[in-house]
Amino acid sequence: METLIGKDLQTAEALLKQGALVAIPTETVYGLAANALDTPAVLNIFETKGRPTFNPLIVHVPDLRSFEKYAESIPEVAYVLAEKFCPGPLTFVLPKKNIVPDIVTGGGNTVAIRIPAHPMTLELLNLLDFPLAAPSANPFGYISPVTAAHVYKQMNGRIPYILDGDACKVGLESTVISFVDNEVVVLRAGGITIEVIKAIHPHVTTSLQISSNPQSPGQLKTHYAPKIPFLLGNIETLTNAHPHQRIGVLSFQKEYQGENIKHCEVMSPNGDLKEAARELFSKMRLLDDMDIDIIIAEKVPDQGFGVAINDRLTRAAATED
Ligand code: TXA
Ligand code: MG
Repeated sequence: METLIGKDLQTAEALLKQGALVAIPTETVYGLAANALDTPAVLNIFETKGRPTFNPLIVHVPDLRSFEKYAESIPEVAYVLAEKFCPGPLTFVLPKKNIVPDIVTGGGNTVAIRIPAHPMTLELLNLLDFPLAAPSANPFGYISPVTAAHVYKQMNGRIPYILDGDACKVGLESTVISFVDNEVVVLRAGGITIEVIKAIHPHVTTSLQISSNPQSPGQLKTHYAPKIPFLLGNIETLTNAHPHQRIGVLSFQKEYQGENIKHCEVMSPNGDLKEAARELFSKMRLLDDMDIDIIIAEKVPDQGFGVAINDRLTRAAATED
């Protein structure tokens, strides 16, 4: 199969209506999309990605009215947050209606729904009379793609079309939330910070623990992992501890130099966490494609977008127990 890259919504629409897979741009990362109501089409997502089917997918819809088509009930606080942040990088886990196939939800009774803030994908969703199930368009366990070229590199020959919507503006996946009584529970840190959710609704708890038996299966430990060994910690200490390795450094603000440092990628010279979030996955990929032995990275301040950045860095560095 030849994979085409283009900006033609009609091509994407026609393929999706046939049950085929199309990579779509969003403000967060590129998604690998199929008709969420078509079980064989959704199964094809899991097969193409190499993802275990117990790990449920996000359903992408064009507007808040569509939430009611797929969610059995929606708490008041979800409406308040949706009014404020949608379209945008916030995903709502809600009780599902029967119309949502089990393959989308990993057999569970909740469905994750979001409205992506990307003009092309919103237009595409408006052309379709079904929602799009879409995980990030990377092979399972690898770094999420934030450009059409990233998708092409791994999905070439496996999907018919990549809808090119340029580089993703947020660069990190959506924040995933669920609701328990009056509490908002953050299951995955992402493009909407915990601080801004709290400013609207103060009752927020987080359930971001990294484990191999997670509540949100995307919390699997080994995730976003480069092929080259990836170490997280103090850059100077780690560099000194690996004197005979050719090192690539992923730093937050500072340019690092050293005899065995072959390359240094700086996420944000000005220390802007939003910029660092946007750069993170591109720079991880860049380093992973270099002729080096190990990648050494450091954490960023643990606030705002930093929480999601540190989560991704930690998972990239984690090895499965
Ligand atoms: O920004 C994003 O969310 C991107 C773009 C393409 O929309 N999508 C994305 O999908 O990151 P994926 O499949 O890579 O991550 C979806 C996350 C996983 O952590 C999954 O476990 C969680 O959402 N999730 C999906 N349905 C869920 C559910 N019913 N309950 C709890 N967690 C759920
Ligand atoms: Mg993913």
